[in-house]
Amino acid sequence: MKPAHLYLLLHVLSTASVLVNAFDPITTTVVVGLGATLGRTIYNYLHESCDSKWIAFNATSLEADLESKLFGQHIASRIILKAVTGFMSNDNPKKPLVLSLHGWTGTGKNFVSQLIAENVYKEGMDSSFVHIFTSELHFPHSSQFDTYKTQLQQWIKGNVSNCGRSMFVFDEMDKMQPGLIDSIKPYLDYYDKLDGVSYRKAIFIFLSNAGGESIIQTALDFWRAGRDREEIELKDLETSLSLSVFNNKKSGLWHTSLIDKNLVDFFVPFLPLEYRHVVQCAMAEMKARGVQPDQDVADQVARDVVYFPKSDRVFSVKGCKTIESKLDYYT
Ligand SMILES: Nc1ncnc2c1ncn2[C@@H]1O[C@H](COP(=O)(O)OP(=O)(O)OP(=O)(O)O)[C@@H](O)[C@H]1O
Ligand SMILES: *[C@@H]1O[C@H](CO)[C@@H](O)[C@H](O)[C@H]1NC(C)=O
Ligand SMILES: *[C@@H]1O[C@H](CO)[C@@H](O)[C@H](O)[C@H]1NC(C)=O
Ligand SMILES: [Mg+2]
Repeated sequence: MKPAHLYLLLHVLSTASVLVNAFDPITTTVVVGLGATLGRTIYNYLHESCDSKWIAFNATSLEADLESKLFGQHIASRIILKAVTGFMSNDNPKKPLVLSLHGWTGTGKNFVSQLIAENVYKEGMDSSFVHIFTSELHFPHSSQFDTYKTQLQQWIKGNVSNCGRSMFVFDEMDKMQPGLIDSIKPYLDYYDKLDGVSYRKAIFIFLSNAGGESIIQTALDFWRAGRDREEIELKDLETSLSLSVFNNKKSGLWHTSLIDKNLVDFFVPFLPLEYRHVVQCAMAEMKARGVQPDQDVADQVARDVVYFPKSDRVFSVKGCKTIESKLDYYT
């Protein structure tokens, strides 16, 4: 973490050992041994390592975060809590946890991945055990399909060998070339070990907008029928979601064997956000900035956001995205 501290420590230790050299060999061995142990402890204290000091899941705190920070996603919130808690409290999972998050833009998919990371790793998203892949950044050229396949396998193998409790987030799956994700299929399956490496404690999260339309349709049907948003259940969405993802050439999961073989543990739908959620986002953002949340400002921001469908103005077109920059304009 802080190299300067380490150098200082090593210096002190070596000075100490020079001093004790003047004494009998047994004392020297004991002192140097103690010094080495102490050094290792301090290094481990400052430098992130793959152990329970740095990777400590707290279910209570994940629940509290989902409850208080994530707005309008009662289904996603419930699934994520159950899935992650169940997985993390199992010392011997049979396969890695694979979550596929779907929904309209700005509804909280990246945000939830961040909440998960923060409650599993002390360092959160900055942890060296959390890896994010973005199609446009990591796999931009369709001509290099084969290179990407090998590279992706090597990265995952390398990182999991390094730390079994690694987390991989594949962002913008819908922009990924069809078939690329199939290259990691063996890692997601029920294997004890592959080439001496066990992948069973890793977490894989896929993010995409695929299936967003079918989720919106269901949400809109409920709204038009005058039913409460909270009445929407997973079963109202699940089947149409996995089907539309599987059959959508641009979902990143098109005809993938990951779905065939049931290697995705949960398809998590994110509902489109309404006016009241945009207000909540604006209030939360003000709080995060350390200013007194102002209901009037939040209302103003939310009123200025564009909603669809045009006739009813129910759902925010950009979800809670751009609220941050809009706030700058009003305050
Ligand atoms: N449901 C939500 N509850 C609270 N805040 C939210 C929610 N959705 C979005 N936000 C806020 O909006 C920001 C943008 O959301 P996020 O990046 O998670 O969207 P996304 O679903 O990944 O969208 P895209 O599909 O465009 O990538 C987040 O950093 C968060 O501050
Ligand atoms: C888990 O988080 C809660 C709330 O943030 C905190 O009160 C509690 O002490 C934490 N538990 C552990 C074991 O760290
Ligand atoms: C781990 O993954 C990253 C990409 O996130 C890659 O750059 C790195 O080389 C990988 N590490 C190993 C040891 O393979
Ligand atoms: Mg996103």
